[in-house]
Amino acid sequence: MIARKKLVAGNWKMNGSLVANETLIKGFLPEVTDAVDVVVFVPAPYLAQVQGLCQGSAVKWGAQDVSSMPNGAYTGEVSLPMLEEFGVTHVLVGHSERRTYHFESSDAVADKALAAIEASIVPIVCVGETLQEREAGRVVEVINAQLDPVFDRCGRYAQNGKWPVIVAYEPVWAIGTGVTASPEQAQEVHAAIRQRVQEKLGLEVAQSTRVLYGGSVKPSNAAEIFAKNDIDGGLIGGAALSSSDFSGIIRAAR
Ligand code: G3P
Repeated sequence: MIARKKLVAGNWKMNGSLVANETLIKGFLPEVTDAVDVVVFVPAPYLAQVQGLCQGSAVKWGAQDVSSMPNGAYTGEVSLPMLEEFGVTHVLVGHSERRTYHFESSDAVADKALAAIEASIVPIVCVGETLQEREAGRVVEVINAQLDPVFDRCGRYAQNGKWPVIVAYEPVWAIGTGVTASPEQAQEVHAAIRQRVQEKLGLEVAQSTRVLYGGSVKPSNAAEIFAKNDIDGGLIGGAALSSSDFSGIIRAAR
């Protein structure tokens, strides 16, 4: 089996304060080693603070969304050049909450992923099905439809068996619900995602691309989930806001 370094990503969503952020980061920093990659995705107003707190540590930081445009009349948007000024290395694109609340299409998500790659920032492309889609047996169809525009636009950046894209599988029905996909359910979809990567970009890229699981990951279930062959870590929401829980999930990824 190809060794892929585990990645634990914390998605703070629209949470935090200057005081709470410092307490949170200082609380889990001692748990971070080179054994596991750790990235925190923070609200844009806190990027400068988080950069100051994490600079020089093994923790990387990112944004939860980004415009595909470099600048211009896009009120409320944040550009990749702006993120670069704050040392951002990764960016979430296509999170289900943006697909739902902001009607982001898979084409728009793919445009964001392409712009991120071209700015040397790694996109974490979020995909996942609703409960209705799962119950209709449409999981793979939905996931492939979300991923295919990303292959179309970004596939050309797969070189020497590497692709500067990370995928996060987040079943919508498991996000924030406390209902976690079973390790077997998650593994099944991760394997299907890896199969699609192989079909589009070849075996070597499929084997090197990291696929994260997100959806009610907790210290109590993380180790079993992360032990699955095609699961390369987690995209953590609620538990990322607790330094003890986030530390426990980082430990589980070792
Ligand atoms: O992006 C991660 C998030 O959607 C998962 O949230 O609270 O179920 O871990 P949560």
